[in-house]
Amino acid sequence: MSPPGSRPAHPRDTIARGPALAAPVSVDAAATGGAAGRPREPLPTTTPANQEATAAAPAAGIKARVQDFSFYYGPFQAVKNVSIGFAERAVTALIGPSGCGKTTLLRCFNRMHDLYPDTRYEGKIVLNPSGINIVDRRISPIEMRMRISMVFQKPNPFPKSIFENVAYGLRLRGVRSRRELADRVETALKGAALWGEVSDRLRKPAFALSGGQQQRLCIARALAVEPEIVLFDEPTSALDPIATSKIEELIHELRSRVTIIIVTHNMQQAARVSDFTAFMYLGEMVEVGRTDMMFQNPARPLTEQYISGRFG
Ligand SMILES: Nc1ncnc2c1ncn2[C@@H]1O[C@H](COP(=O)(O)OP(=O)(O)OP(=O)(O)O)[C@@H](O)[C@H]1O
Ligand SMILES: [Mg+2]
Repeated sequence: MSPPGSRPAHPRDTIARGPALAAPVSVDAAATGGAAGRPREPLPTTTPANQEATAAAPAAGIKARVQDFSFYYGPFQAVKNVSIGFAERAVTALIGPSGCGKTTLLRCFNRMHDLYPDTRYEGKIVLNPSGINIVDRRISPIEMRMRISMVFQKPNPFPKSIFENVAYGLRLRGVRSRRELADRVETALKGAALWGEVSDRLRKPAFALSGGQQQRLCIARALAVEPEIVLFDEPTSALDPIATSKIEELIHELRSRVTIIIVTHNMQQAARVSDFTAFMYLGEMVEVGRTDMMFQNPARPLTEQYISGRFG
């Protein structure tokens, strides 16, 4: 039994407390491991500031590769020459102190910055397997937002019914058949572990749901268009522990189907839900590695200081 008031046990709770692992695997050594018979891409790499950073073999290939990537708000450089590969069908946690550029980097993936003037991308974010550069101005941001969905810190359902919130992206994609819409809305709501709670009130306003239900609705809306990547920006920071636990379990289940990048300030959450962790500081990527290794044996003193709560 858990003590009163404690978080419900989560299968990945043990990660951060497990026995000490061997020294971090180097990028080259890690590249030789992994799933048998699968063609392997180079592994997550690091910025020049991060030559010693570690990375471990992802279970599959790299879904998105950020290459020599910088981002500017006017003259201010918020992301500084970052290079990192995001493993396919795995969860990568993006951590770092407030203002280090986590949200900025996440928003580059679905071209959210295009909505604002005087912003600039440099370098590439290559989406595999097609190899397109997400931030190439010739690539439609609308298409990118279909292929790469985002779930925000505060649940932001549209002022529409539960059904219409989930159907929205499908209608944009040209799905007209009532039957197909109904089927796909149901599938997305089931995928977001919300169907059982809303199946009898799909036409009710989304605002009538609790905060945790609204966040799962936003996840259903993100999943409905069958994205290749789902970006989560502190998705549970406005939620209570029970709702947080549901979202964490959901993220854990989703990772077998979709590539996930999650920003979190909660180190326990990063340890519970993620396979890989990337630590940013002042716009730079300091260290990237397998979450269990990073939390038990970080390669860089700065990472160790951050994850042990000495700043941030
Ligand atoms: N629209 C903007 N215009 C100018 N500068 C911005 C803008 N948005 C963010 N910044 C700056 O870019 C840097 C990175 O901000 P960002 O929001 O990406 O940080 P973050 O790591 O997500 O922080 P937090 O953990 O507080 O959410 C900060 O210095 C911030 O002040
Ligand atoms: Mg942020």
